[in-house]
Amino acid sequence: MEDNQKVVMISGASSGIGLYAAEYLGKLGNYVFAGARKTTDISRLSEIQNVHGVKLDITKPDDISAAVEAVETRIGYLDVLINNAGIPGWGAVMDRDLEYFQQIIDVNLFGALRMIKAFYPLLKRSKNRPVIINMSSQGGNYAFPFWAPYHMSKWALEALSDSLRRELLPLGIRVVVMQPGAIRSLAFESQRDEFTDYAKQVKSEFQARAISLLQAAFVDPNRKTKDPQVVADALVHAIYSPNSKLYYHPGRRLIPDLLAAKLPQKLVDRILARIGSD
Ligand SMILES: NC(=O)c1ccc[n+]([C@@H]2O[C@H](COP(=O)([O-])OP(=O)(O)OC[C@H]3O[C@@H](n4cnc5c(N)ncnc54)[C@H](OP(=O)(O)O)[C@@H]3O)[C@@H](O)[C@H]2O)c1
Repeated sequence: MEDNQKVVMISGASSGIGLYAAEYLGKLGNYVFAGARKTTDISRLSEIQNVHGVKLDITKPDDISAAVEAVETRIGYLDVLINNAGIPGWGAVMDRDLEYFQQIIDVNLFGALRMIKAFYPLLKRSKNRPVIINMSSQGGNYAFPFWAPYHMSKWALEALSDSLRRELLPLGIRVVVMQPGAIRSLAFESQRDEFTDYAKQVKSEFQARAISLLQAAFVDPNRKTKDPQVVADALVHAIYSPNSKLYYHPGRRLIPDLLAAKLPQKLVDRILARIGSD
């Protein structure tokens, strides 16, 4: 392995940001272990230059142990852990049961935590400025109505990242947070049927507002998105630059994000309360 070649592990590499990043980092000459759940995706990943597909569901400890073993056996250390796998979580708080929240948080938060704990011994062996990169979201910064499960998982992932960064600093292991804006992927397309069912079945007092606020994400999900290259560029900076940042914000910041950051929160509350109420 040459000095500028890194050993990378990335979860959720079957589509979207993860697939693009695995391909791109492989093309740059890094050795990439790319996690996916389906056999066809794993085989497809292994056909990409410098990419080795591994079976990885981040809610399954056995999959994670096998992925650690694969990296340990082939290389013996890890330079870059990218916790990319994640799922959207949405719906009115009162309409979603506790199990739904647990499922989103199990993937987006505990999945990353399981990976970090499992790969830590291999990261400690890296002599190559090791880094853990956690894929949060612009939604890790604010909380809009009807997206509570997602925001909760990403805010908590950011809290984990901040604490961990300060714990690992003396050991020379960096922790970086990515907060992408809207990026072209399959995230919402793959949940369109679930949204249609939700819109039909939920009859609560929240339904009209929830649908008004959520439907833009599901009806034409990739209309105003950026190419995943912007995230790949940020990942490369985080991995290689001697001046790597703690946070990156690749991609388009949605208008709601700008509103939430710039306007008084009581005003934002009033604007959001009117959507779908008329
Ligand atoms: N796209 C955006 O606009 C955007 C913005 C901000 C943040 N993000 C974040 O970026 C990350 C990647 O999402 P994406 O937009 O590229 O969506 P995507 O195309 O749907 O990719 C999500 C990936 O996560 C995988 N995954 C889901 N559950 C998993 C589990 N239990 N174990 C392992 N892998 C699992 C999926 O695998 P399967 O194919 O097997 O389901 C898929 O490979 C997520 O963390 C997301 O929250 C995305």
